[in-house]
Amino acid sequence: MRTISLLKTAKRSLVLAGMAAFSVFSLSAEENAAIVVKADQPAAQISRHIYGQFSEHLGHCIYGGIWVGPESSIPNTDGYRNDIVEALKEIRIPNLRWPGGCFADEYHWRDGIGPRESRPKMINTHWGGVVEDNSFGTHEFLNFCELIGTEPYICGNVGSGTVEEMSKWVEYITFDGESPMANERRQNGREKPWKVKFWGVGNENWGCGGHMDVEFYSDQYKRYATYCRNYGDNRLQKIAGGANSGDYNWTKVLLKEIGRQAWGISLHHYTVPKGWGAGGKGPATGFTEEEYMITIQKALSMDPLIGQHAEIMDQLDPQKNVALCVDEWGNWFDVEPGTNPGFLYQQNTLRDALTCASVLNIFHKYSDRVKMANIAQMVNVLQSIILTKDDQMVLTPTYHIYNMYKVHQDAVNLPVELLTPDYKLGSRAVPALNASASVDADGVIHVSIVNLDPDRDIATSLNLRGFAPKSVTGQIVTAPKLDMWNDFDHPETITLKAFDGAKINKGLLSVKVPAKSVITLEIKK
Ligand code: AHR
Repeated sequence: MRTISLLKTAKRSLVLAGMAAFSVFSLSAEENAAIVVKADQPAAQISRHIYGQFSEHLGHCIYGGIWVGPESSIPNTDGYRNDIVEALKEIRIPNLRWPGGCFADEYHWRDGIGPRESRPKMINTHWGGVVEDNSFGTHEFLNFCELIGTEPYICGNVGSGTVEEMSKWVEYITFDGESPMANERRQNGREKPWKVKFWGVGNENWGCGGHMDVEFYSDQYKRYATYCRNYGDNRLQKIAGGANSGDYNWTKVLLKEIGRQAWGISLHHYTVPKGWGAGGKGPATGFTEEEYMITIQKALSMDPLIGQHAEIMDQLDPQKNVALCVDEWGNWFDVEPGTNPGFLYQQNTLRDALTCASVLNIFHKYSDRVKMANIAQMVNVLQSIILTKDDQMVLTPTYHIYNMYKVHQDAVNLPVELLTPDYKLGSRAVPALNASASVDADGVIHVSIVNLDPDRDIATSLNLRGFAPKSVTGQIVTAPKLDMWNDFDHPETITLKAFDGAKINKGLLSVKVPAKSVITLEIKK
């Protein structure tokens, strides 16, 4: 049995010491876990932007995924797939990152404006060496964001671009007056500027974005960011290219060097069961229980990872002015057999739903520092929420987690403490349960609980401190086996279902959390 505080690490010992004074963890004979939600100690707001998505010019994310072109026989609105638009609207995507990824640092935006038929073609050297015809460019992306009601997050080219190129891109998109760029935009059919808040200055500049060291990148950041201007009332929130996973020195130096000149700094961290070596990353389906255990152990390592980056940031920025933006994360497995290795197309099982929900719970915990996150990637690439095949579309188990968790967007995080049994396999062990909670603007509490144990239902008490529950309803994502997924012939193997396993008794809730499931409870006074 372990006790876990979902408060920040630095405060953990205090909280645990304090807990001895409470009898909140006393369990009934049937219960083997306990959850305390500190409804009387609301913490930071959970930025809706941690529910961001990422769409790169990679495989069939853009082409065939979002965009089929206006002439396509696949039902579309101005070239955007209708099924995708509808599915994305449903889960209220707050922001969408584009055009990469590694692609961003070799993308030259001028290639993607003007009449489509005369746009130059290029080779997508990073992703499969395929021809990129630039038919999806700035107008197509920004109009798509308007269509689905999301904030654009553009990542500019530092690796192979110039300060002038980036500066003119900002002017082209956001300037309302008379200028060469704004006039060109009008000629290309867009009279009024778009609003763009989130602006990335390069991507993975320690790697595919130019193999720079952090001192060099910091100087570059300052040059590029200086000339990304605020026009009219458009205010850019600039995001500097941050660390690769556990590169804490990058975070430290970057923050020191760029200080307050950035709204946020990024962090990229993927869950790769077998690592990046030549032996393969591990299959997306047909995995063993040991591979499942390793995957969840690695996914849960997001917690100490963010904790340590946040600790460094707290030293240099105690007021928390600079956001940590985990703008690439998710499970990265081997590609599906027979698919282009450069397209990163993988299936998505119940395992993905469980790790996704667990990581979102971790983001909630750090909501005072993590203000944005983008799972990679939205359609047909890595841990996608949607897969397409010609005119068919399937919503993955990960999609259903985003649908279930949307209630936490912009709600206030309520710290959680847990007493949970372990899920053990051989010499490995993880806490079987993890959870997070929030209170929304109407005073409704939502508690999300993940049971990672594949075999064991867990009965838990749920104490909402300072809140007298009157009604509870719930939703669940689960399946008979971990290794199940939705395919084009069986698109509803895993969906969001009603959950009625929570009961209120004398102000206390008791919940039976089924094995390998994610639930979200809605609790009202
Ligand atoms: O998401 C796929 C790739 O992973 C991105 O292009 C890159 O930034 C990261 O290495």
